[in-house]
Amino acid sequence: MRTDTPQPIRLADYAPPAFLIDEVRLDFDLAPNTTRVKAKLTVRRNGEHAQPLVLNGERLKPVSVAIDGRVLAEAERTIDAEFLTIPNAPDAFVLETEVEIDPENNKALEGLYMSGGRFCTQCEAEGFRKITWYPDRPDVLSRFTVRIEADRKFRHLLSNGNLIDAGELPGGRHFAVWNDPFPKPCYLFALVGGELDVLEDKLVTMTGRTVDLRIYVDPGMAPRAAYAMDALKRSMKWDEETFGREYDLDLFMIVAVRDFNFGAMENKGLNIFNSSLLLADPATATDMDYERIESVVAHEYFHNWTGDRITCRDWFQLCLKEGLTVFRDQSFSADMRGHAVQRIKDVKALRARQFAEDQGPLAHPVRPSSYLKIDNFYTATIYEKGSEVIRMLKTLIGPEAFRKGMDLYFERWDGHATTVEEFIRCFADVTGRDFEGFFAWYEQAGTPRVSLKQSYDAAARTLELELAQETPPTPGQPTKKPLPIPVTLGLLDGDGRTLAFERDGQAADETLIVLDQASAKVTLTGVDAAPVVSALRGFSSPVELTTDARASDRYVQLAGDADLFNRWEAGQELARALILARAKGAADEVSEERYAEALGRALNDQASDPAFKALLLALPSESDLALAMAPADPAAIHAARDALRLRLSLHLTEDLQRLHIGLQELGEFSPDAASAGRRALRNAALDLLAANPRAETGELADGHYRAAANMTDAMGGLSALMQIGGDLYENALTDFFQRWKAEPLVIDKWFALQARDPDESALGRVMGLTAHPAFDEKNPNRLRALVSTFANFNPARFHDPSGAGYRFLADQILAVDGFNPMTAARLVEPLGGWRRYKPELGALMRKELERIAGTEGLSKNVYELATKALA
Ligand code: PHE
Ligand code: ZN
Repeated sequence: MRTDTPQPIRLADYAPPAFLIDEVRLDFDLAPNTTRVKAKLTVRRNGEHAQPLVLNGERLKPVSVAIDGRVLAEAERTIDAEFLTIPNAPDAFVLETEVEIDPENNKALEGLYMSGGRFCTQCEAEGFRKITWYPDRPDVLSRFTVRIEADRKFRHLLSNGNLIDAGELPGGRHFAVWNDPFPKPCYLFALVGGELDVLEDKLVTMTGRTVDLRIYVDPGMAPRAAYAMDALKRSMKWDEETFGREYDLDLFMIVAVRDFNFGAMENKGLNIFNSSLLLADPATATDMDYERIESVVAHEYFHNWTGDRITCRDWFQLCLKEGLTVFRDQSFSADMRGHAVQRIKDVKALRARQFAEDQGPLAHPVRPSSYLKIDNFYTATIYEKGSEVIRMLKTLIGPEAFRKGMDLYFERWDGHATTVEEFIRCFADVTGRDFEGFFAWYEQAGTPRVSLKQSYDAAARTLELELAQETPPTPGQPTKKPLPIPVTLGLLDGDGRTLAFERDGQAADETLIVLDQASAKVTLTGVDAAPVVSALRGFSSPVELTTDARASDRYVQLAGDADLFNRWEAGQELARALILARAKGAADEVSEERYAEALGRALNDQASDPAFKALLLALPSESDLALAMAPADPAAIHAARDALRLRLSLHLTEDLQRLHIGLQELGEFSPDAASAGRRALRNAALDLLAANPRAETGELADGHYRAAANMTDAMGGLSALMQIGGDLYENALTDFFQRWKAEPLVIDKWFALQARDPDESALGRVMGLTAHPAFDEKNPNRLRALVSTFANFNPARFHDPSGAGYRFLADQILAVDGFNPMTAARLVEPLGGWRRYKPELGALMRKELERIAGTEGLSKNVYELATKALA
């Protein structure tokens, strides 16, 4: 138990900064254990008040503090574990401080730390205070000049902006000076120092300026940055074409590091990436890796406007930059890879992570109103639901008005820190519409449930639709108001053809209904035949939809809905119902056969895209199914899902074999979407074949693994072998390790694969792997590969009835919390859903949360999540 009770920070308490900083000059003398940081701040009192100057600073060893050149006596300032306080500061002055820090022993990976023998920084959200004393809050924007000095073996010395000076120094040392002309908050500061290889390129912007592009990576890895470079150039062009946004500096740099708490960071002009989201070549990266690299490179680049040029007033506004930037990267990926396929993948991720969050004790609004540690709010709700809110906004006002509102936002707020209210005001101003009701999407947590009932009157040729919404209570929000919910809707006839209709006298193929009351009725006229309703097309809002559609309607949709998202969704709905029926002991074998047949037809549809077919073949995940079963029984779900997979496998054997042979790749590897789609379908076919563990399937999977010419196929083969188990699998695992032991990113995959193994032996294996020489809990990628994969993607084994899976996770959380609270806290979530599970399981999960919450010396990060999860 923590002896103090940490006090929450509240949005309602926001006050503007008492002092502003116009200029910052930082001087770094880099040394692994004794880095000296001198800061020279040009400070100005903000308004008329007599408050002291209070600067954040943690884990800093004070050397000196001076105002206007005069060193302050101890009585003139106080330094404690969190702040430097100067009571009688002048109205305008220069503050000079010097501190010493120890990057080498910084295993929290916040502030200045070392990764692979190189210096690097991570300052968002509140890491800058571990570098020097500063008003560590996003609404203090300042111009930074940074001088870095180090031993010459740290060959590249990088910071934000432009290089303005560099040179050699006596004693084998050198220096570099960087200046960033754009005022920025300190969370966007970055510094890198070390031996790196660089991949260089150039891009000519829309106004004809040439920008130098550099990607810095571990020595020898430059060829593996080629795809990221290509993605960067495409992102830069896309932002010009789609949003009229041009890059603003003459240089854009990305650095890849192996030890990183999150995915990547948008520091101005100097993005720092987790190497897992940057490095790729066919031999070591899967198509999924390529896809994520493309989207994260775009995401961080897009932050240059939505995040850096315009930043957040306070951390409650996090979605202002994150939700919006996810929306931008998803739109980019859709343009690169196909809208329907991208939408399906985005919605799968939303449901898996955000819907689960909304159903548990950690549910919070897209814009929360209080927190203990902001690090805990880099959540699926802020990011993914935040993006959905922007998407709805665009759906509601149309693409032209959306673009106008964005233009106004960039024009009005460039160079400032602002709020979600001000963002929305831009759209109100360009449309003349009132967004008060819409704003509830930011303030109200929980996934709305929408119901839809239809009644068709053949004589009158009318279709009456009855819609209703309700949002279940979430912690701190017992009652909810109705939200404006955009429902895009179309009709099909019994053969799946688009059925035209009229709404308010207007002929249409598709219409947008905005449900903004608790319930509403809409009548469509001129409907010539009994229709199949295709509602919530493209997943037009982040809700759970229930309808009175019959299974036969779903089959019509699966065969021919013009909206590909709903075609896929119909298949998922059917599969979900079949699996849940089995899980409750009511298997419906006739319907299962019918489903298998329909899937077979969809697979043989020559007109449809292989990437789409691969998605059709994948059954809803076990965690997705758990959300639909109350209370959830992971073992029953796993068994039922496997049973349906076996039936599909038996029924579709020939089709799957044909796909597996027919899609064999002959030419050279290309990471493009079409080639990736064919590989995805071929591997999905193998995966389903492997659900039927006959000797031939083992041979097939083994052959697939051995013949693999790229990592996508190697992993496809290995995971099929995992399902089959036995010697073939064990041998392949050993072979894989031997082959790739020098490649950390590939060995992460080796750990993650074993963590996903649903076999009974998996928990023991996973626990054993924590003692493997290649396991390293200090490296977040390796830790997540094993521990987080196990807890999040292996429900059958994580929810072991003995509680051993939960105990294992809690032990890991407590161990990691001792040195890396940010990463430890991200492991708490899988225990958070305890109320949704069978009571026997829920009680065991709760017990582990109590054990965590009761531990002495817990970080604020883990304390906040564990106590909220128990509340
Ligand atoms: N701002 C980063 C992004 O979403 C995420 C991040 C947060 C990275 C905190 C590191 C630390 O692009
Ligand atoms: Zn981001």
